[in-house]
Amino acid sequence: MIDMKTIVVPGEQVADKPVNSFGVYTYNNKTYSKQLGVLYSVEHIKVVPLTGKYMPKEGDQIIGLVIQEDLYGYILDIKSFRLPYIHKRSIKTELKVGDLVLCNVYFVNEIKEASIDILAKLETGMLFEVSSKKVPRIIGKHRSMISLLEKYLGSKIIVGANGYIFAKGGKLNILKDALKIINKYSYVDNLTEKMKVYLENIKWGINMSEKEEWYFNSKGKRFDDRSQFEHRPIKLKVGVIKRADGSAFVEWGQNKAIAAVYGPREMLPKHLADPNKATIRYHYRMAPFSVPDRKNPRPGRREIEISKVSSEALSKAVDLKQFPNTTIDVFVTILDANAGTRITALIAGSLALADAGIPMTDLVAGIAVGKAGGKVISDLNKHEEDAPDAVDLPIAMLPNTDEVVLMQMDGPLTEKEFYEVLEVARKSCHEIKDMQIKILKEKYKDNFGGDAEWNNIFTNQN
Ligand code: CDP
Repeated sequence: MIDMKTIVVPGEQVADKPVNSFGVYTYNNKTYSKQLGVLYSVEHIKVVPLTGKYMPKEGDQIIGLVIQEDLYGYILDIKSFRLPYIHKRSIKTELKVGDLVLCNVYFVNEIKEASIDILAKLETGMLFEVSSKKVPRIIGKHRSMISLLEKYLGSKIIVGANGYIFAKGGKLNILKDALKIINKYSYVDNLTEKMKVYLENIKWGINMSEKEEWYFNSKGKRFDDRSQFEHRPIKLKVGVIKRADGSAFVEWGQNKAIAAVYGPREMLPKHLADPNKATIRYHYRMAPFSVPDRKNPRPGRREIEISKVSSEALSKAVDLKQFPNTTIDVFVTILDANAGTRITALIAGSLALADAGIPMTDLVAGIAVGKAGGKVISDLNKHEEDAPDAVDLPIAMLPNTDEVVLMQMDGPLTEKEFYEVLEVARKSCHEIKDMQIKILKEKYKDNFGGDAEWNNIFTNQN
């Protein structure tokens, strides 16, 4: 028998007799777990899921986030697999995208669609998110955890059964850390007691302003804690697809792009060949699973457009004249997307070209700069790109000459703002190019840094 409170996986045996309980199934007189979860086996056996979507239940009090507005109503994100639609005529207050509302689930139909009433609009506070499966631990027995947090931090906290938590006042920065801890260690015994010790021991941070804005907090930090011109962390890798002539993998924040280069090789169909130079065929694709709504695998207009402008950008860097009548195929697939994927892809493509040994005058580096929440910023994430006043300005350059090889823009900027973000983009491109150089050189460092095996071969041959 497994010990009390162990983590179990789907199909793992949890009892050697049939038990009818939560999160388990029986087969051949034995009981197995149905999901990744924590097995409780004190009074009776049950498996509590560690993660998963919110399943609405009648009577639940939840917090919704307005994510879309049309003529007749609003669509709310309630962290479930169906998004409820609220008719404007059924509510008194006017809402806008980004507003938070406290709701009551009054009916759930057979396809788990929640019908909700809006109880109140939540203003001047901060939104936190935990897995809906952790909500019982956040609340604690008889509200013990919430009372503790409210008492120690002086915040007013509203916990939505769907895992959205709204808080105002008090030490919100400490609450943020405390919620992260509870979310992570939800299965630990006596969590409330442990949290009490944690709260007593930590040094109090600066009191954050109550008036948190949607895109910037009072300290000018962005929603994901970045400053105005800070880009998300970037990780590069080359030589990830052995079959290809050159390849690369780029992680830019949540964005992930994998690129493979084949060529120069004969252009087929032949009539597309250019007798004067090579043609770069760039194939930007989004994997169906890379975005929240399944992306149709057939290339859409957006992918065709991105492929065209990216191929033009890379053509500026590659010495095409050396390979008449040929094609250089650059395939880039986005595996995970959170705004800025065309640039992530282009950096991967440029690295893969260099990795394939294609002659280039420079590497292509880039970044998307722009505006959200009234301020110019660099490297917009999806949340910022969806701002009502968002401007997205992806830029790619050849850093040696600062020649701009890709620039697109989907909103207005003043001349001053434009030159401000252009300079930020230029600096970032230089920084990214240094990273590209480092990763390309690293691949061969053993061959020139006295690799033992190579040295042996060399000495033996002499
Ligand atoms: O990715 P990038 O910013 O270069 O291009 P975009 O057209 O401005 O798209 C912005 C973001 O929208 C993408 O990065 C994806 O996160 C998202 N998107 C999506 O969810 N579904 C699509 N079919 C296309 C884009």
